[in-house]
Amino acid sequence: MSFVKFLGIGSSAPEKVLSNLDFEKMIDTSDEWIRTRTGISERRIAESNIASSDLAYEACVKALEDASMDIEDIDGIIVGTITPDHIFPSTACVLQSQLGAKNAFAFDVSAGCSGFLYALHVAKGMIQGGTNKNLLVVGAEVLSKIMNYDDRTTCILFGDGAGAAVISASDTPGIMSSCLGSNGDYWDLLWMPAGGSRIPTSEESLKNGDHFLKMEGREVFKEAVKALESSSLEAIRQAGITPDEIDLLIPHQANYRIIDAVRRRLELPEEKVFSNLDRYGNTSSASVPIALDEAVKSGRLKKGDIVVFSAFGAGFTWGASVVRW
Ligand code: UT7
Repeated sequence: MSFVKFLGIGSSAPEKVLSNLDFEKMIDTSDEWIRTRTGISERRIAESNIASSDLAYEACVKALEDASMDIEDIDGIIVGTITPDHIFPSTACVLQSQLGAKNAFAFDVSAGCSGFLYALHVAKGMIQGGTNKNLLVVGAEVLSKIMNYDDRTTCILFGDGAGAAVISASDTPGIMSSCLGSNGDYWDLLWMPAGGSRIPTSEESLKNGDHFLKMEGREVFKEAVKALESSSLEAIRQAGITPDEIDLLIPHQANYRIIDAVRRRLELPEEKVFSNLDRYGNTSSASVPIALDEAVKSGRLKKGDIVVFSAFGAGFTWGASVVRW
């Protein structure tokens, strides 16, 4: 069986910054509340003409360059997103056109903030199964487009961005394990009610604000800590290592209190956990690959290191993966 390796990584975020101080002028909140309850200081917000595929395109170009790979060599594109350009066709197909990826298939996965890890799991299986060689795995979001900027319990949390990886068949080990989970009983604790076949967009749905993201934050928080811990431990077990062998944990960037609770449960020192939450907020599917790109480019993650990715999101969904970088 072939091994599967990361050959390149890239990310992209809009230039416009929305800071906690900006929010103080918009809603009843404070920089102090946001920083102490979440760890977020600012987030990036896309211009009105920018969609998820546009940010994904920039991230993919960088990932291809990092992998020294031509787009003709890519045989598939999988995009994790909850803010697709359109309900259909897939954002992956729009991205395929932008990239000129003529030899690729393309599809989206909808797995909330676990989207990148779900896409990675599928891509790994396709490569190990022998049907594909080089895949683009992407997490891309323009969450600002589904935010209710009058709802202080959600709008301060989320930001826009994209991350992409080239993963390929290899003679040497890379992805050591990958595991996923979900519990659909919680589907309506983090969701966007309208715009699908259950509640089509209508004057009433707009009036109710059902086209915005809605979340029961406290419930999500509790389940996130449990699932991030258990899936990380399962991926570590499947990789045949112990937690003390981990060089870096790159968790989903949603709330520093969640990240810290998971860190303590895994008994990892602070320097072994990567976070850029303060500058991006929660970018859902994009959070792990953006953090991975920054960890690599800043030298926090080096060749040969063992890194654990873990994520949790709407559905609920969760996933974790152990990679020798
Ligand atoms: O990506 C995966 C999914 N997302 C997550 O993982 C997010 C998970 N949840 C969380 O991160 C946290 O639950 C939040 C950050 C969303 C909320 O933090 P919390 O400590 O759970 O706050 P809370 O919801 O219990 O609210 C505490 C108080 C409330 O006031 P009262 O009822 O005690 O008077 C809120 O109304 O804080 C109030 N509050 C705010 N105050 C100032 C809520 N949002 C704000 C705000 N500014 N932005």
